[in-house]
Amino acid sequence: MAKILVTGGAGYIGSHTCIELLAADHEVIVLDNLCNSSEEALLRVQDIATKVMTFVQGDIRDSAALDRLFQTYAIDAVIHFAGLKAVGESQKFPQLYFDNNIAGSLSLFNAMEKAGVFKLVFSSSATVYDEANVSPLNETMPTGTPSNNYGYTKLMVEQILQKLQQADERWSIALLRYFNPVGAHKSSRIGEDPQGIPNNLMPYLTQVAVGRREKLSIFGNDYDTADGTGVRDYIHVVDLANAHLCALNNRLNQTGCRVWNIGTGKGSSVLELKNTFEQVNGIEIPFEFSPRREGDVATSFADNTRALSELGWKPQYSLKDMLADSWNWQKQNPTGFN
Ligand code: NAD
Ligand code: UFG
Repeated sequence: MAKILVTGGAGYIGSHTCIELLAADHEVIVLDNLCNSSEEALLRVQDIATKVMTFVQGDIRDSAALDRLFQTYAIDAVIHFAGLKAVGESQKFPQLYFDNNIAGSLSLFNAMEKAGVFKLVFSSSATVYDEANVSPLNETMPTGTPSNNYGYTKLMVEQILQKLQQADERWSIALLRYFNPVGAHKSSRIGEDPQGIPNNLMPYLTQVAVGRREKLSIFGNDYDTADGTGVRDYIHVVDLANAHLCALNNRLNQTGCRVWNIGTGKGSSVLELKNTFEQVNGIEIPFEFSPRREGDVATSFADNTRALSELGWKPQYSLKDMLADSWNWQKQNPTGFN
């Protein structure tokens, strides 16, 4: 059992990870400024886990608050989810993204170093890969120049962490490159709750299903894929949460900085996802084809063999499970946590 600081723990992936950490008997301290989440998620996590966590409402950019937190709790390791993630917003407000995601991460790493805490799991993204790479993407393939400022912040923080570790080998860092997290906890009590119009496919689709949006726009049907629509590697958020536990256990016993892809290794197209959603949940999804979205690649899916062999992790959930669980969460919480 270890004491784990989870930054951004009230968010979508963070809240699911807290459940798994509590189930594994870790002590959990969440730091979140609630800019894209609600405390209700944390209350529900504790209900589901039948265990308590500590919640500190605060910002990773607040160095004094971080110092106090590390002085108060003898933290063993940090899982760092806190960050902004809206691609369109990052194009409009680059400084906000650089400040929150890059400066905020640096402030966290400084506080960790001061406190002598060197074990870290960081939320990165498959978006850091060079677009010229052909899927399945593996960790030895080159990173590129991300097409948006959000992706750029992920790449920058990865590089900062690699350099920190090269300079001081006390650091032990896991860089997890997520593919496309979807789904929700089986209880349907926590799930993804985006503010405003969803950017991502799954929350948009479930909001159409629940009647909050008129129809789904499928961005492009002329890609070089089997049915012309974009292909992605969707992964159940509970499988992703478990990958954090495996990465944490790995890092608690080792040093170095290591990258792992967290995906299922299987690509699904937008049309396949929509059609399977209809079959699994018995709901018709009105849709139209619309032009390609700027910055999207045709196909992105993971080679996950490194995570399977080194982390002892294995995804358990199928695409059908992901679609059923996403829908059950949305159906039972039509307006999210509100
Ligand atoms: P989310 O928005 O649901 O969770 C992020 C949490 O961080 C929120 O609770 C938010 O309030 C908090 N936060 C943001 N800035 C903060 C700050 N300065 N100080 C304290 N708290 C702050 O997002 P998520 O989907 O759970 O993503 C978690 C992490 O994974 C993010 O870093 C994201 O970029 C990364 N990621 C997500 C995806 C995805 O598709 N969801 C894919 C790849 C990587
Ligand atoms: N799509 C639609 N209609 C929509 C939304 C999306 O057709 O309304 C399509 C996209 O064109 C793409 C697929 O559905 O082909 C998936 O799109 P998402 O926006 O759900 O996900 P992305 O693959 O674009 O992005 C996700 C995360 C990013 C991360 C990236 C890494 O949201 O944070 O994966 O590959 F950086």
